[in-house]
Amino acid sequence: MAELKKQDPDIYNLIQQETNRQNDGLEMIPSENHTSSAVLAALGSRATDKYSEGYPGIRYYGGCEVVDKIENLARERACKLFGCDHANVQPYSGSPANMAVYFALCDPGDTIMGLKLFHGGHMTHGLKVNFSAKYYNSVQYSARPDGYLDLDSMRELAREHKPKVIIVGGTAYPRIYEWDKYKTIADEVGAYLLADISHVAALVIGGVHPNPIGVADVVTSTTHKTLRGPRGAMILCNGKPSKPLRPAERTRENLPTLIDRAIIPGLQGGPHNHQTAAIAVALQEAMQPEFKKYAEQVVKNAAVLAEGLLSKDFNLITGGTDNHLILIDMSGKKISGQQAEKALGEAGITVNKNTIPFDKRKPFDPSGIRMGTPALTTRGMKEGEMKTIASWIDKAIKNVGDEKKIAAIRQEVLELTKQFPIFR
Ligand SMILES: Cc1ncc(COP(=O)(O)O)c(C=O)c1O
Repeated sequence: MAELKKQDPDIYNLIQQETNRQNDGLEMIPSENHTSSAVLAALGSRATDKYSEGYPGIRYYGGCEVVDKIENLARERACKLFGCDHANVQPYSGSPANMAVYFALCDPGDTIMGLKLFHGGHMTHGLKVNFSAKYYNSVQYSARPDGYLDLDSMRELAREHKPKVIIVGGTAYPRIYEWDKYKTIADEVGAYLLADISHVAALVIGGVHPNPIGVADVVTSTTHKTLRGPRGAMILCNGKPSKPLRPAERTRENLPTLIDRAIIPGLQGGPHNHQTAAIAVALQEAMQPEFKKYAEQVVKNAAVLAEGLLSKDFNLITGGTDNHLILIDMSGKKISGQQAEKALGEAGITVNKNTIPFDKRKPFDPSGIRMGTPALTTRGMKEGEMKTIASWIDKAIKNVGDEKKIAAIRQEVLELTKQFPIFR
């Protein structure tokens, strides 16, 4: 950091400001977390300088003997943690990972089916303006009015449209994913099931959420949410890699080859080796016994936070949570998601406005807010802190526009954060 400070004080100062912003507030966006110093060290390493198109042992560049070992370690650790045959750790992020799965399994114009973004899905699961609906025929299933996934709508649409791929996984779904049930529907219509576990990956590793491996055909996950690694993604599957350069038909056994070829040469160029090294470090951390405790605590914390909010008459979609996140309909409190996000932000509590299923408001000014416990849990906060935070959230929402009261909460937040620094 000293070198950066000397050479580019503008960027140095902005990075310091961002670090302080995170350290002095409560980061409650459920897709965010705080990485360890070891992950950051790998991310800021010389591995970033190296080009290595291809895969370990079959590269288009010389000098790859070391980065081959890094990538192999990342792949082996991913396979061990999730219990799968094959891991591709090269996707630059979650969106390219999903793109690669469709590229591997579909031809342009084929039908894919995912959960509507505004019901808790992700853009890459078939949102109209996304590549996933522009290059494929996107059919979208819904959540039920109570917020749970609507399996009847999933089954009906699947029977009608016969998708090649059914995608399950989301950005704002607070409940357990029932992989067996989705697989039954996929099998009925001969579709591949893609489980996008970006949000719940650490909970799967920690054994507090069912593992889709062995049920879903392909699993994608970002590495930077609950998993606590660098920004990046993985694609996991079972199957047997075929011989290099030999044709590979679209069969389940060939999934490793289909996925690898979709990443390169299909979609990407050189892997980001610093990112791969940091993913390997995050996976090594996830193999430690403390990681299971962290995953369990994330869920316990979310449950206590949910209870606290329910006791203050907040309307939680689905009535609560099984995982790390909570989705709240703010209309009962007579304010919009945007107003709630702003008021909480001023109090030092960062959440995000979010649509709720069947939202009557527009996506840029929706009815809901989404919050979660991964980053707070990483800092070491437990049930006691969650109760306090629930009461601060309630107070801030009751006092929207009262600068003095919001500033008083901000001060209390700051005092709490001092006991739980983000650095580890
Ligand atoms: C379920 C899910 N899939 C995919 C993505 C895309 O990841 P990225 O933002 O890294 O492209 C996200 C990100 O929010 C996500 O929540």
